[in-house]
Amino acid sequence: MNIKEELMITANDLENITILYAEDDFQIQEGTVQTLNLFGIKVISANNGLEGLELFNNSKQNIDMILTVIKMPKLDGLSMIREIRKTDKFIPVVITTAHQETDFLKTSIDLNVSAYVLKPIDIYQLRDSLIKAIEPKILKDRLIEKHQLMLTQSRFATMGEMINMIAHQWRQPLAAIGTASFNLKYKLQTHKFDLNTKEGQKEQASFFEKKLDEIEYYVQNLTATVDDFRNFFKSDKKIVKKTINEPIENSLKIMQKSLDSNNITVITQLQSTNIINIYENEIMHVILNILNNAQDNFLENSKESMMININTKDLQDTTQIDIFDNGGGINDTIIDKIFKPYFSTKKEKNGTGIGLYMSKTIIEQNHQGKLNVYNEKDGVTFTITLPTI
Ligand SMILES: Nc1ncnc2c1ncn2[C@@H]1O[C@H](COP(=O)(O)OP(=O)(O)OP(=O)(O)O)[C@@H](O)[C@H]1O
Ligand SMILES: [Mg+2]
Repeated sequence: MNIKEELMITANDLENITILYAEDDFQIQEGTVQTLNLFGIKVISANNGLEGLELFNNSKQNIDMILTVIKMPKLDGLSMIREIRKTDKFIPVVITTAHQETDFLKTSIDLNVSAYVLKPIDIYQLRDSLIKAIEPKILKDRLIEKHQLMLTQSRFATMGEMINMIAHQWRQPLAAIGTASFNLKYKLQTHKFDLNTKEGQKEQASFFEKKLDEIEYYVQNLTATVDDFRNFFKSDKKIVKKTINEPIENSLKIMQKSLDSNNITVITQLQSTNIINIYENEIMHVILNILNNAQDNFLENSKESMMININTKDLQDTTQIDIFDNGGGINDTIIDKIFKPYFSTKKEKNGTGIGLYMSKTIIEQNHQGKLNVYNEKDGVTFTITLPTI
C-alpha cells in the first residue's frame, strides 16, 4: 500500500464492519438493513433506544459504529448515545434525521456525533456518511498495524546484526579453547612428561591445571556474552532509573569486537551523572542502530583512521549524548530524509531503512527526548537529549 492508498478510505472499508442500528419504523428499518447489507455491512438491529443500549452493552467489542434515529419510544436516540458515551467515548455515531429536527444539532455536537443523514435515506449519502464516520478509526488501526510491523522488522534487522557481532565475539575465545585442548592432547599423545619421575608427574599436573584454567576462563567469557545478548532481547518494557552511561557501555560490550575487527576506534567520555528514567533495552537499540550505521558507512568508504566518539554530559534539565563518526558525514541532499521510514541508501546490504525511524520514535515518543543529526567537518554527529528527572 502506498501512502496515498493508506490515507484513502473507500466503500471497501465498510465491508465486514458491524453496525448497531436503532430505528422504530419497521419498514424503514427493513429497507436500510438491505442497503447496509449491500455494502457488506453486518447489522445488529434495535427497535428502540433501550433495546439499542442493551444490545450495545452486551456486545461492545463487536460493534464498530452506531446508526440511529432520534425519535424513538422508551429511550430516544440522543439519550441512548449519551448513555453509550459513558463507557465509550470514541465509537463513531451517525444519525438519520428528518429536516424539521434541527434542535438536536447542538446536543449531537456535544455527544461527538460524526455525521447525519437526511430522511428519506439516500443510498449514496448514507454510504458517504458512514465512510466519513469510520475514517478516523480505520486510519488509527492502520497506523498501529504499520507501527507494529515496523517494530518487528526493526527487531529482526537488529537480530541479524547481532548474530554477526556474536560471531565476532566468539571467534577468539573459541580459537583459544581449541588451542588449549589441542595442546593437552598433543602433550599426552607424544608422552611429553616422564611420568616415572616425581618431577615429571608434577610438571604434567601443573601444565594440565594451567590449560584447564584457561579453558574455564574462556568458557566464562562465552557465557557472559550470551548473557549480554540475552539481556538485550528480553522485551521487558520496564522503566529503570540509571545514568545513560550504563546502556552505552552495555551496547559497546556487544559491539566492541565487531568494531575492533574493522579497525574502528571508539573513544568514550561518559561524564553524565544524572539519573534518568529509561527503557534500557530501547536505548540500547538506539545506540546500536547509530553505531551500526557508522560502521556500515566505514565499510563502504574505508579510510585511514576510523573513529567514533561517544560523549555524555549533563545540561540544565537534560542529559545529552553525542555520537560522532569521522566517516565523511551525510549528503545534504538526503540528510532531511534519514529519519523517514524505509529510507535507506544501502542497496547491497538490503537496508530496511527503519533503524533511524525507530530510533527517533523510541527517543521522542517513548522517552520525551530529542534525536537530531548534523554534519561536521569530516563526519556526522547524532545528538540525543533526554529529560532529567
Ligand atoms: N553515520 C552515518 N554516516 C553516513 N550515512 C548515514 C549514517 N547514519 C545513517 N546514514 C544514512 O541514513 C540512512 C538511513 O539509516 P537507517 O538506519 O534508518 O537505515 P539503514 O541503515 O539504511 O537500514 P538498516 O538500519 O535496516 O540497516 C542510511 O541508509 C544512510 O544513508
Ligand atoms: Mg541502520
